[in-house]
Amino acid sequence: VTCECNLLIVDDVEDNLFLLEDVLEDEFDSMNVFPATSGEAALEIIKNNRIDLAILDIQMPGMNGFELCKRIKSNKETEEMPVIFLTAAYKSKEFIQNGFKNGAVDYIIKPFDVDQLINRLTLYLKIIKQQNQLKGLNCELEEKVALQTAELRDLNGRLEERVQEELHKNKEKDHLIYQQSKLAIMGEMTRMIAHQWRQPLTSLLAIIQSIEFKDRINKLTKDDIKESSVKAKEITQKMSTVIDDFQSFFKPDKQKTEFLVDKTISKTLALMEAEFVSEGIEIEFDIKVTGITIVSYKNEFIQVLLNILKNSVDVLMSKNIQDKKIKISVVLSASEIAISVEDNAGGIPDDIISFIFDPYFSTKSQNGSGMGLFMSKIIIEEHMNGKLIANNSESGAVFSLIFPIGFISTNR
Ligand SMILES: Nc1ncnc2c1ncn2[C@@H]1O[C@H](COP(=O)(O)OP(=O)(O)OP(=O)(O)O)[C@@H](O)[C@H]1O
Ligand SMILES: [Mg+2]
Repeated sequence: VTCECNLLIVDDVEDNLFLLEDVLEDEFDSMNVFPATSGEAALEIIKNNRIDLAILDIQMPGMNGFELCKRIKSNKETEEMPVIFLTAAYKSKEFIQNGFKNGAVDYIIKPFDVDQLINRLTLYLKIIKQQNQLKGLNCELEEKVALQTAELRDLNGRLEERVQEELHKNKEKDHLIYQQSKLAIMGEMTRMIAHQWRQPLTSLLAIIQSIEFKDRINKLTKDDIKESSVKAKEITQKMSTVIDDFQSFFKPDKQKTEFLVDKTISKTLALMEAEFVSEGIEIEFDIKVTGITIVSYKNEFIQVLLNILKNSVDVLMSKNIQDKKIKISVVLSASEIAISVEDNAGGIPDDIISFIFDPYFSTKSQNGSGMGLFMSKIIIEEHMNGKLIANNSESGAVFSLIFPIGFISTNR
């Protein structure tokens, strides 16, 4: 049998040791025999070498075989080591029993029959070889598992890093988008104020010109001045109200409030009235039910309405539609309120309708940031617990804002 194997033999009679060592080394190719003449010497060997099998004499001065076996079996490192006892024939019965009790796997009776001994050892060595192979395999497996676990852990770590990175990037992007949308809103506000101011500015100019004219022809009376200044004050008062209105509407609400839907829509339409009039757009506000309120962020709701109305104005103008019309309706069902804005500009082309809520999606080149509907959708769906949907009707685009109902007022 060839098996890389370390065998310990312990016998206090040196002749016995030599004999056994000779026999074994002749018979087994790659066997290392470690001889010891006492239990103490044997323990020293065990401490320093990996012993696969031990053959112990029982009767020895000092530590006897049983004691040595007990020590071997009580040490975690060596408890698995197979131990075979050598015992003289006349003592065999009693010794054999004691030997098994102490953890021996076999016994050999002295004087031993060489062939029998070799046969037995051959069997043990085979078993040891297989065990060692198994152990090796186990170790390899464990190593592989450990390696893969480490790899997995590494991968996990990297994934986590990636997720953090992406989250960070997203936050940055959100921030950027927020900044840009603020700019867009500011731009929008200025544009609307400009629209609202055009007419009063013209009136102011007229008043000033009239005073100048009367003065030039020396017909300016105190009453004229008084009357003009009253009018001018009224107009500037209105102009400053316009700024206040827009400023308050474009300021995001910190708190939810309860507001009347129809009233809020009317106010929003009023903000754009100057524009509707100057562009010749007819507004139809169809209120089937009044007194409905929702509890939410009122100014954000107004911003969304403005975005949608502004889009309708844009498309009506750019397509140069004949009887420009925007229809706003409020429909109430058992649990929802749907506010829809419909224009008659022909609708959103099929090939872009799925992109219109994407950030930066715009068909207006220089004139649109593409943030309007994107921000509107976030406001409605993420801040207000509602839904914003785009459809096409026969005449044009329909944008619907759908909210769960907060409270329905009884005084209609
Ligand atoms: N009522 C509508 N009819 C047809 N197409 C529309 C309508 N409303 C929006 N769209 C389309 O959706 C696109 C995206 O609208 P969105 O309001 O997000 O951006 P924008 O109006 O182009 O730019 P801005 O950020 O200045 O509002 C528009 O460019 C337009 O092509
Ligand atoms: Mg827009």
